[in-house]
Amino acid sequence: MEPVFRTADLATHPAGLLAVGVHELARGRGAAGAAAPARDTPGGALDAASRGALKALLASGDFSGRAGESTLLYAAGIEAKRVLVVGLGKADAFGANAARLAAATAARRARELAADKLALALSERIEREPELARAVGEGLVTGHHRHTAYLSDGGKPAVAAVDVLASGKPDAAIREALAAGVARGEAVCLARDLASTPGQDLPPAALAERAREVAKRVGARATVLDVAAMERLGMNCVLAVGRGSPHEPCFIELVKEPAGAKREAKAPTVVLIGKGVTFDTGGVSLKPREGMSKMKYDMSGAAAVIGTFAALDTLALPFRLVGLVPSAENAIGGRSFKPGDVLRALDGTTIEITNTDAEGRLLLADALGYAKRFAPEAVVDLATLTGAMSIALGRHAAGLFTADERLAGELHRAGETTGERLWRMPLWGDFLAEMRGDTADLVNSNERREGASCTAAAFLSHFAKGMPWAHLDIASTAWTYTDRPDAARGPNAFGVRLLVEWLESRAGSGAPEPAAKETKRAAR
Ligand code: BES
Ligand code: MN
Ligand code: ZN
Repeated sequence: MEPVFRTADLATHPAGLLAVGVHELARGRGAAGAAAPARDTPGGALDAASRGALKALLASGDFSGRAGESTLLYAAGIEAKRVLVVGLGKADAFGANAARLAAATAARRARELAADKLALALSERIEREPELARAVGEGLVTGHHRHTAYLSDGGKPAVAAVDVLASGKPDAAIREALAAGVARGEAVCLARDLASTPGQDLPPAALAERAREVAKRVGARATVLDVAAMERLGMNCVLAVGRGSPHEPCFIELVKEPAGAKREAKAPTVVLIGKGVTFDTGGVSLKPREGMSKMKYDMSGAAAVIGTFAALDTLALPFRLVGLVPSAENAIGGRSFKPGDVLRALDGTTIEITNTDAEGRLLLADALGYAKRFAPEAVVDLATLTGAMSIALGRHAAGLFTADERLAGELHRAGETTGERLWRMPLWGDFLAEMRGDTADLVNSNERREGASCTAAAFLSHFAKGMPWAHLDIASTAWTYTDRPDAARGPNAFGVRLLVEWLESRAGSGAPEPAAKETKRAAR
């Protein structure tokens, strides 16, 4: 999808669907029929051209302009086949999130209606504010996206063209912001497609191949450690989890050097780690059959990391970014690791396996051990780690576990900004105490359901010791159960927008180099 700005009049511009934004009017005015959107807004223009159709809609009380509301109009005097009136919420509260969701609603409806062309006239502010233009780009792409790879008829066809209507020619910064938003939206959709792909078609080697493609596109270095390389290093946890599967495990490392002058200097490093279980049967500690098909998304952490790398063209980071993805299929076979086995992790810690379904923390243990070689200034891991996460928080937030107050603040803020919400969870030593073993240093599960997300995080904390580290348990949020404006049902790539926002805020809060802005490139 390549949305472009067009200087055009919304009344005469041809389109299968014209989406017009309308703010929520002050209480009482809309229903009284006395007020309509101001003349110089898209709503005002629509009302004038349609001889009061919008005013009538508002007077009916059927539509008030609340964020999330939308309704179709078939209006005389408008060239477009149909008009989608989209609520933007209160004008003074209108920001990037509302713009993103409104654009997503328009794109989603355009696809459902099989409109060939979508014209967008949401708010005149989009022509002036880069933040809003970028949000529109993101919303259009994510709202439009469907995972159609396995539908024999291809599903609803893609919308062929999107025109963002403007009253004048927006300046370069605004056009670049729209393109950057599109690029970020596409990074999200790439991650969604990865997490939606069945385990049969995305074993670890295929995931690595996709990561390589992304790295190549954004100028990052990709290294994939195979079984022999992992044996040499002592990544015995990754090897054990993957041993029961005919698809060999691997360890993916992506490195993007900092932009501009910092490249030469000794740059600090930020590490992102993503759990990459391409399918989780539970192994010998087999999962119940209900809902097991969803376990193709057990590499959603990996997808978030790879998706974030895919968006790096839109960021100029003053630090080195490293992405680590330990990847394995947790399968059952004669060679599978078993309860009672003892593994020696990369850092030398011994772990007694009490439950082969607690495999994610094993992969992360080796990845955290590996991360230490970068002496990173921050490490964030993302993992669909525990079913208990949604028992604790429902589906409305991912768990944030960290002892680092700076990271806690930064990540929490990025979550609020993007709507990919995080909620702080405890990392008390009491939880780690529950994971100490008799036979080995640690057990991988204490075989209790109480506080299972916290004991899992505590287990990880042992391997993250000495590094500023945060763990995001995204098992509660990485799957969308009912369609949202910006995400169809299924894997949603939770974390990509969050990480991009976090990295961007971190890039801006250090001592930014003057060159950083110029090296910032828009979409390919
Ligand atoms: N991938 C699962 C966690 C999961 C479960 C994610 C449901 C999304 C939905 C993970 O590998 C797992 O099986 N965790 C176990 C841990 C337990 C054995 C301590 C769990 O949550 O039951
Ligand atoms: Mn599991
Ligand atoms: Zn798992």
